[in-house]
Amino acid sequence: MVVRSLMIGCGSCLPGQPVSNHDLAQRVDTSDDWIVQRTGIRSRHIVGEGETTSDLAVKAAQQALDQAGIPASRVDLIVLATTTPDHTFPATAVKVQARLGVTSGFAFDVQAVCSGFVYALAVADNFVRLGQARTALVIGADTFSRILDWEDRTTCVLFGDGAGAVVLEASEGAGTVADRGVLSTHLHSDGRHYEALWVDGGPSATQTTGHVRMNGQEVFRHAVSRLSETAAEALKANEIEPGQLDWLVPHQANLRIIEATARKLHLPLERAVISVDHHGNTSAASIPLALTEAVGDGRIKRGDLVLMEAMGGGFTWGSALVRW
Ligand code: ACO
Repeated sequence: MVVRSLMIGCGSCLPGQPVSNHDLAQRVDTSDDWIVQRTGIRSRHIVGEGETTSDLAVKAAQQALDQAGIPASRVDLIVLATTTPDHTFPATAVKVQARLGVTSGFAFDVQAVCSGFVYALAVADNFVRLGQARTALVIGADTFSRILDWEDRTTCVLFGDGAGAVVLEASEGAGTVADRGVLSTHLHSDGRHYEALWVDGGPSATQTTGHVRMNGQEVFRHAVSRLSETAAEALKANEIEPGQLDWLVPHQANLRIIEATARKLHLPLERAVISVDHHGNTSAASIPLALTEAVGDGRIKRGDLVLMEAMGGGFTWGSALVRW
């Protein structure tokens, strides 16, 4: 028998009302046509005055706990992936911990930009499998609207704000791919691409928060290759053929990236969960937001085999194979 991290609940939070491409076109020199053609994005959500990453994270986490049917007091680990913490320190995770009323265990943030959720899931899964935590909250939460340069149309149209969360609980499995829970995780990074997608500020470098800067074409090229590699790696590690997958839940950066990755995997696009059209790129929140939507509307059912993959600034990238 082996210890597995069962996913026993998920939840999400999107702030305010949808902001359409037409709304953005009032603000910057862009058009609905351009954004839809290049990215597949039609609308996104943006936080209001004073609303923070932790506000979204707490709501997503509470919903995940409610779905799991367990009290917050049972949580002994919180791993929160974010690039837009409320403050430079302490970790946003400890604020979430306090607001959920959790007074034991430990909580910390993980920074891997758009790969953040997969990184946080891998970290939490390892703590659970080693017996150092029993019930973990894994949260992806970001308010990218706060670090966008609203004068730069090449980046500001791509992102949205939101949060998603899953509850993991230790459970015994047979050690085969028939087990429910996290079957494997695979993480990578290559810091040579630091400035392909980065924020041009930070406490140590500039003492400012900075804004998102990106070489879109370089990111696009790397994304398709790295995402298909890590997806294939997860399948190989579990001796699974793409045809055995029920769902691909990819990071939602761009519809063209999702289409190209699914094609390389020989997976019909109907089996990819797509929410980028109405969420935009919500960075670390994108996978748990898409997952929660697909669980909520009954597409993902108990026992389904789900492949998650993401890539982000760093570059960082990774995948996780999970039986829901
Ligand atoms: N509205 C209208 N025109 C625009 C806009 C806009 N919002 N943005 C750029 N343009 C113009 C450019 O100025 C350029 O005009 P020019 O030819 O007169 O100079 C033209 O559109 C083409 O610009 P490109 O940058 O060549 O456009 P491209 O086809 O590469 O698409 C995009 C840009 C959508 C950013 C694409 O490169 C991409 O999707 N890259 C991946 C980036 C990504 O998804 N990043 C998210 C974070 S990383 C991750 O999560 C994986």
